[in-house]
Amino acid sequence: MSRESGMPGYREADLERIRQRTFVRAVEYHREIESTNTRALRLAEEGSLSLPALVLADLQTAGRGRGGHGWWSAPGALTFSVILPRDALAADRCWPQVSLTAGLAVCDALQQVRPGLEIGLKWPNDVYVRSRKICGILVELSSRAPARLVVGVGLNVNNSAAQAPPALSDSAIALIDVTGYACDLTTVLISILQQLAGQLSTLTSARATLAHRWQELCMLTGRTVQVTAGARTTTGTCRGIDESGALLVDTGWGHEPCTSGTVTVRD
Ligand code: BTN
Repeated sequence: MSRESGMPGYREADLERIRQRTFVRAVEYHREIESTNTRALRLAEEGSLSLPALVLADLQTAGRGRGGHGWWSAPGALTFSVILPRDALAADRCWPQVSLTAGLAVCDALQQVRPGLEIGLKWPNDVYVRSRKICGILVELSSRAPARLVVGVGLNVNNSAAQAPPALSDSAIALIDVTGYACDLTTVLISILQQLAGQLSTLTSARATLAHRWQELCMLTGRTVQVTAGARTTTGTCRGIDESGALLVDTGWGHEPCTSGTVTVRD
């Protein structure tokens, strides 16, 4: 696919722009790939790889979401994975911190495109606009390269939710559905990567600042939620996200910090 054929695509100049303007040191671009996360997990095993490294694709044929779910993406979506050195993150014990930090980077980049956008974080890894999902984040670790972390981001940009499969069309949204015009994917990507670099360094140096932002953007606060993590279910009123990245659920017996799981809104 290429711009010349009327389809989305990145040219060499776009890839160069990404290398020049962001913290990414290596870029691997695919017009079509199974999953950028799957490829990034494999690439992370190469010791000589310059980090951070980016795997970018126009189209995924088997994009993956959390919990073994698939990820819908169509031409016009932004789909990429960043390989990061894990020791730079100081977030060993609490993975939600990394997905929340990436989510925050997406929120801030989208706010730059559309100031005043009604945006929220759905703990631990989703970004919502107007109560519909615009972005999913999948943080993974290869057991063969445990010192490196893969952060995969799928953002609906020019792939209008009107093109989505019927099961998703009511719950998904794309940037184009809000703005009414197509955005340059490279520009949006650069903005996310710049935000990500800044937020990751804040994560290590001033986590409380980030926690304040997670709290501010947490769309679950005040809602009745059910958090399912394996066989364990926690139900209660969400009281926001704490500094460790855990979701706080007021069960009536106290505030329970949930560090992993899937949330369902019950009210
Ligand atoms: C979720 O909402 O469950 C997470 C979705 C993550 C999707 C992105 S798209 C780029 C990267 N490659 C994948 O296969 N998944 C992530």
